[in-house]
Amino acid sequence: MSREDFTVTPWHVEGNIDYNKLIEQFGTERISEQILDRLEKITGDIHFMLKRGIFFSHRDLNKILDTHEQNNEFFVYTGRGPSGNTHIGHLIPWVLTKWIQDKFHTNVYFQLSDDEKFFANKDITLDMVSRFTYENIIDFIALGFKPHNTKIIINTKNIGNLYPTTCQIAKKINLSNIKAVFGFTNDTNIGMIFYTALQSAPCFIENKPVLIPLGIDQDPHFRITRDVAPKIGKIKPAIIHGMMMPSLMGVNNKMSTSKKNSVIYTTDSPSTVKNKINKYAFSGGQSDIKLHRKKGGDPKIDISYQYLRMFFEPNDSKLKRIHDDYTSGRLLTGELKSIAIEKINNFLEIHQQRRKEAVKYMKEYILQ
Ligand code: TYM
Repeated sequence: MSREDFTVTPWHVEGNIDYNKLIEQFGTERISEQILDRLEKITGDIHFMLKRGIFFSHRDLNKILDTHEQNNEFFVYTGRGPSGNTHIGHLIPWVLTKWIQDKFHTNVYFQLSDDEKFFANKDITLDMVSRFTYENIIDFIALGFKPHNTKIIINTKNIGNLYPTTCQIAKKINLSNIKAVFGFTNDTNIGMIFYTALQSAPCFIENKPVLIPLGIDQDPHFRITRDVAPKIGKIKPAIIHGMMMPSLMGVNNKMSTSKKNSVIYTTDSPSTVKNKINKYAFSGGQSDIKLHRKKGGDPKIDISYQYLRMFFEPNDSKLKRIHDDYTSGRLLTGELKSIAIEKINNFLEIHQQRRKEAVKYMKEYILQ
């Protein structure tokens, strides 16, 4: 694979993702200044992840805003495939989901695709996915969702709620569609082939338009859903796409549950975070202090800076100061890493406290 090549599918993300190319390849729309203005007029402010272009692309977001302005309701749907513990990249779409819920007073549905992860990974058992399902749900609840307007769907448990709609959808998808979108072959198990119908089903759980915040890797499923929707008399789901948080190893690697030392988990202790950032976080700094003071560092490829930009430093002027000091050489790599460690640990301290609370109320969220 050359430096310019990249792959983005729901099961495989690799390379230096060119998000502009991805907009073309996937046929989505960039989140324009006009849409951001429109959002700001409605909500009174713009979440920093939207302002900074961490959420950069969409499908039919304008229609969702039309719905709202016509005093009609929409709902929000997102999810997680429980293949491991939650890492900080997963929180990106969930935090935006919470913001949308608060601003638009919507219901939220959160799907745990335990079936998908069992089908997709030959080394994973149903017992393992069920343990991770529980862990991932706790992280989601800990972000502040409330049971009166948030429902959690666990595919293997709630299949009865999903199955009639899943059948309607499955009947409209043929094998060649699935092969064309996902590149499946004759070796692919039939669970995987059927699965898109299950990820599509919650789009129609309420008879209202839906908005789905997600990482762009999940878009291919909903391209299929959008083709099917009019064929079964439903509204096409609208989507808002986020960038993929890179792993500690560098901006060419997606953070992924399966690569332990390249990931920060929501359950990591302060010393683990410190160790991981200091030891593994790719630095955009120069090889020695003298050179760094002279030439400065490159925030674009510096993982500590990128984590601050994507998630941990919501304050724009503070972020700008870090950026400028690093670029000018005033701020050293070690100092930038210390800022990132402190910010991540402050966030995780509160999050881990909320996780302990969340365990007590979990049952109230599960769809009955
Ligand atoms: P999963 O478990 O791979 O990821 C959960 C959500 O997190 C996003 N994501 C990331 N975002 C930023 N940086 C990363 N490094 C990163 N890694 C993952 C994903 O895009 C996703 O939004 N099949 C889905 C589960 C699912 C779902 C849904 C997702 C079921 N229904 C509806 C979105 C919307 C999955 O395996 O996601």
